[in-house]
Amino acid sequence: MDRPPALILLVITLLACGVPQCPGAQAPAMLPSSAPSASRLLSLGYADPGVQVNASQELATGFPPVPAGLTVVSEAPAIGLVVCALDPDVTLSPADFCAKVLLVHPEVSFCEPDTATATISQAASATNATNQRPSASPDDPLFSQQYSLRQVGLPAAWSSAQLFGSTTIHVCVVDTGIDTSDAEFAGSVFNGTAFVGGQQSSDYTDGNSHGSFTAGVVGAASNNGLGVTGAVQRPSLLICRFMDATGSGSLSDAALCFDWCIRQQAAVISCSFGGTTFSQALQAAVQAASAQNVFVATSAGNNGVNSDVVKQYPSAFAQTLPGVMAVAASDASGALWPRSNYGPMSVQIAAPGVSVLGLGLGGVFVTLSGTSMAAPLVAGIAALLFADAGASPSALRQNAVADGIKQAIQATSTRFTASADAAKLNGGSGGVVSVPAAIAAFRSSRAYSAVRKSSISATVVAAFAGIAAGIVVTLLGVVVVIQARQLAERRRDRARVGLVDDGPGA
Ligand SMILES: *[C@@H]1O[C@H](CO)[C@@H](O)[C@H](O)[C@H]1NC(C)=O
Ligand SMILES: *[C@@H]1O[C@H](CO)[C@@H](O)[C@H](O)[C@H]1NC(C)=O
Ligand SMILES: *[C@@H]1O[C@H](CO)[C@@H](O)[C@H](O)[C@H]1NC(C)=O
Repeated sequence: MDRPPALILLVITLLACGVPQCPGAQAPAMLPSSAPSASRLLSLGYADPGVQVNASQELATGFPPVPAGLTVVSEAPAIGLVVCALDPDVTLSPADFCAKVLLVHPEVSFCEPDTATATISQAASATNATNQRPSASPDDPLFSQQYSLRQVGLPAAWSSAQLFGSTTIHVCVVDTGIDTSDAEFAGSVFNGTAFVGGQQSSDYTDGNSHGSFTAGVVGAASNNGLGVTGAVQRPSLLICRFMDATGSGSLSDAALCFDWCIRQQAAVISCSFGGTTFSQALQAAVQAASAQNVFVATSAGNNGVNSDVVKQYPSAFAQTLPGVMAVAASDASGALWPRSNYGPMSVQIAAPGVSVLGLGLGGVFVTLSGTSMAAPLVAGIAALLFADAGASPSALRQNAVADGIKQAIQATSTRFTASADAAKLNGGSGGVVSVPAAIAAFRSSRAYSAVRKSSISATVVAAFAGIAAGIVVTLLGVVVVIQARQLAERRRDRARVGLVDDGPGA
């Protein structure tokens, strides 16, 4: 069987990184020649850990000047972080320099040399890859092979109009970028960017294929007559690339991606990377997302270890942070994947991650296994639930909706039949995410009614304001317009459902 070169590269990378100590894990990030050397970069934190940073205030007032000997490379106002380069004449090592900064600068809450690199934490193997190019076959011709979507009950959810997603609910995928020329991403990318060596660029093109796959799990185009469908049928993707073609990148760049996602008003962040290296910069990033009610889905990792004991980052932050979930991988039979990391305290949910069909590079479809495949499915499901709440992005930010979604997903999983599997996740009640049950639980949650109430009262206030100003006729006109639009939406939604339901083998 002919395998395209991209796939061969993928297999090598993924296999190399599927063991606990990935050989690439300590390699410095690849940097353009103009960027400062990664070994001279460090992250300075200015916020008290756990305290919510007010991004608009930080943007208005700016950070205090950085200590002498440093040059600012990038600022992350939403997480209170500055990435700096050591000036060439500084002879201290970044670690010694940081120790000195912490002694004499009380306003700096942490200082961390940027030596840690992240590698993709998935990566079992590419098995039985389907090299099928778009053709004139029925819509999403590979939908019948996407067992993962049926197993979690997504098709049932798609019969409800609010559960298609929404163009204002952005899912930010922090990964290796995407194949920007892939028709499966046509019209679904709201914005994209890249951070390499602390420097931002517009090049979020995927040289690896991992990011294309994970972003495709969330939002590969539906009913476009090609390939696969994502979990969100009306996706709005934010793409932040911090890893290169080899699947490595620095943790300060990952933190800068979080900052960008938060400032771009993401409702959800999807992370399919990680390792055992603790980073204060990454912790500040996940804390800031959580504090601002952004839902974060993180892969638990593929080492088959108990993450309660062998901490994995960033997924370990899910244990204590609201709205942050660590996701294990399950297989087609609904059992826990033996290579998935687990942890009754540290991992909350499982999602299908074994032999998942998705996007490769250059219009190729591949089958991959790993917790990398599982986390973006939970991210996509969270986006559907956000859309179901029917509130504005700012109302969602002001209410604890992200944590309401986490609780609903966590409380309603389909319990693993094997009690040994169930014991490994979610306080001993481990299972696979169930979309219909999560929807029901979410709709009866306090977070849901709070955000619905705030949206409704905003509408009522606007209506009364209109009546007071004596524009009743206009108001009626508005109502008519809204109804017409809803009808059109409903008709469109029905058409979409029909297409999906009529898909092969659905
Ligand atoms: C954030 O800061 C801005 C500007 O100072 C202020 O208007 C806003 O109310 C603050 N938001 C919160 C949540 O404190
Ligand atoms: C790959 O496909 C072959 C033929 O259908 C099958 O026998 C084999 O079990 C598959 N391998 C995996 C790992 O799924
Ligand atoms: C997209 O991201 C870039 C880079 O951060 C930013 O300059 C631009 O304003 C963003 N566009 C929108 C529409 O938000």
